[in-house]
Amino acid sequence: MFDYRRSHTCGELRTAHIGQRVTLSGWVHRRRDHGGLIFIDLRDRFGLTQLVFDPQFNSDAHAIANRLRSEWVISVRGEVIPRGSGLENPKLATGTIEVQIDTIEVLSRAKTPPFSICDDQIEVGEEMRLKYRFLDLRRGHIADNLRTRHKAMLAIRRYLDASHFCEVQTPILAKSTPEGARDYLVPSRVHPGTFYALPQSPQIFKQLLMVGGLDRYFQIAACFRDEDLRADRQPEFTQIDIEMSFMTIQDIFPLIEGLMKAIWKACLGKEVHTPFRRMTYADALRDFGTDKPDLRFGMPLVTVSDIAERSDFSVFKEQIAAGGIVKGLCIKGGADLSRKAIDDYTQFVGRFGVKGLAWMKMAQEGLSSNIVKFFSDDLQKELIERTGAEKGDLLFFIADQTDRTNQALDHLRRQIARDRHMINGDHDEFLWVTDFPLFAWNAEEKHLEGAHHPFTAPHPDDFHLLETAPLQARSLAYDLVLNGYELGSGSQRIHDGDLQQKIFELLKLTEEQILRRFGFFVDALKYGTPPHLGMGLGLDRIVMILTGTENIRDVIAFPKTQRASDLMSEAPSEVDPNQLRDLRLLLEEEEARS
Ligand code: AMO
Ligand code: AMP
Repeated sequence: MFDYRRSHTCGELRTAHIGQRVTLSGWVHRRRDHGGLIFIDLRDRFGLTQLVFDPQFNSDAHAIANRLRSEWVISVRGEVIPRGSGLENPKLATGTIEVQIDTIEVLSRAKTPPFSICDDQIEVGEEMRLKYRFLDLRRGHIADNLRTRHKAMLAIRRYLDASHFCEVQTPILAKSTPEGARDYLVPSRVHPGTFYALPQSPQIFKQLLMVGGLDRYFQIAACFRDEDLRADRQPEFTQIDIEMSFMTIQDIFPLIEGLMKAIWKACLGKEVHTPFRRMTYADALRDFGTDKPDLRFGMPLVTVSDIAERSDFSVFKEQIAAGGIVKGLCIKGGADLSRKAIDDYTQFVGRFGVKGLAWMKMAQEGLSSNIVKFFSDDLQKELIERTGAEKGDLLFFIADQTDRTNQALDHLRRQIARDRHMINGDHDEFLWVTDFPLFAWNAEEKHLEGAHHPFTAPHPDDFHLLETAPLQARSLAYDLVLNGYELGSGSQRIHDGDLQQKIFELLKLTEEQILRRFGFFVDALKYGTPPHLGMGLGLDRIVMILTGTENIRDVIAFPKTQRASDLMSEAPSEVDPNQLRDLRLLLEEEEARS
């Protein structure tokens, strides 16, 4: 059998290797015929090397080269020679040499690929790329991202190991944990009619590890959530999951900052500056309209309800009277925006349900616009002072209910920053958002729910609000935000079984529900639980940012589509009737038929 073991990779040979005899193996990337001479670009994961087949030099090898097609796998032997003068390719690491081949073996042939592997300039539809993911991987881009992911995972394990954390694997066949999404269920054959849930996160297990005295746990953990997918979500994704005992928020922040430093250094060679900025949830919402503000540029939101209220502009006054607010932002140098541009932005914010976008330009002589007449000179002065408007700036205002106004202004702020090139793409702005509310209101089912999850400890200053004004109570939950993305969330946990029981009750879980869903957990907390806290960071999102992609599928080897299917293996798929019988499952259609 031909010995196809390589002496070098296809990315390795340089001028210094000239004169050496080498064996290379890889894929036929491109073939060019130059009046007798055949040139093959041979490809492997490490790069490309040009092979030359000269009929004068070795006619047998040349004859085989003549029959080669794209993506065949070959192994060759020959001598490294310099490229002719002027024929060097400075874009290729191996561009100063080529290998003159005397021996070639075809290791396997290839069907014609459904899209070009060698020309990555050609746009290929994502459906096609996902169906033939193994060919897409050969094009290099996704494989590069997977290498970055690998480097990140290595850096994470090294850093956390050095900080005395222990990686523990928790079950995949588990019981439902409340992270707010729908569970993926797996029927049990041994216990007919019962189901495992795939973990939405290892939350309960990692807390039990703290009860078990593990002290510092981490896991690069597979998580499963049956939720509506977006560009930055997958049904199956990976968390860097961390939990630790006898520590506080003051300890976990520097730990995670060090982790980010280690990842950025390992993957990008970049220094991350610490400590990260911190902002309370309330301030983030007030100043940026969102709990994950992008701080790579300024343009904060400014509330002007108190000024608008004293104006004669009925649109604003009516919204305030209805319990709404008036809020805006100041675009530096934005007075150059055309009417058309302003109309486009008005349409843009309309998508978020607000009814208009008021504007004012700051000229030499003061504010001007169609609505300035409704504001007295004094009120105009106040507006200028509040917004910091200077000559040449443009002010935008929205009047509506608080949530809607915030949402529209958050999107508007980010869109304007993109349009006006206000974002420095090389710069990363990490941010801790703290003091999240403890509860959120589930309007559909009309009860409280955990804003983070029900194991989050209340803020010690807000215990008195738990019964009287629960929606005002803050928690010890925090998020790590980067450039407008939520990278991770965590919290100090409840370590007192009675308090945990009380929180479940406030969430309107019945005694029976608490017992059935979390009985073992509440009980465990009663056996001596250390104070503990932790967080879960989205590994996929981190790698997205490291690789500069906005599509989470680009950082996952075999991702699922927005409709949660794998186009390559065609999962999910129907199963054999015997399998259903074993599980004692009857599909609705069959039931209808029988
Ligand atoms: P949370 O639900 O906020 O917290 O999730 C933590 C982080 O996981 C990432 N993430 C996702 N990434 C891709 N696709 C998804 N569908 C998806 N859902 C979440 C996000 C998110 O910030 N157990 C808690 C953590 C804790 O309290 O320790 C938890 O899971 O980056
Ligand atoms: P109108 O009086 O409805 O013609 O509106 C005058 C200006 O106010 C227009 O520029 C509208 O876009 C703007 N406007 C209308 N409703 C709102 C609102 N809810 N918030 C901000 N601006 C608004």
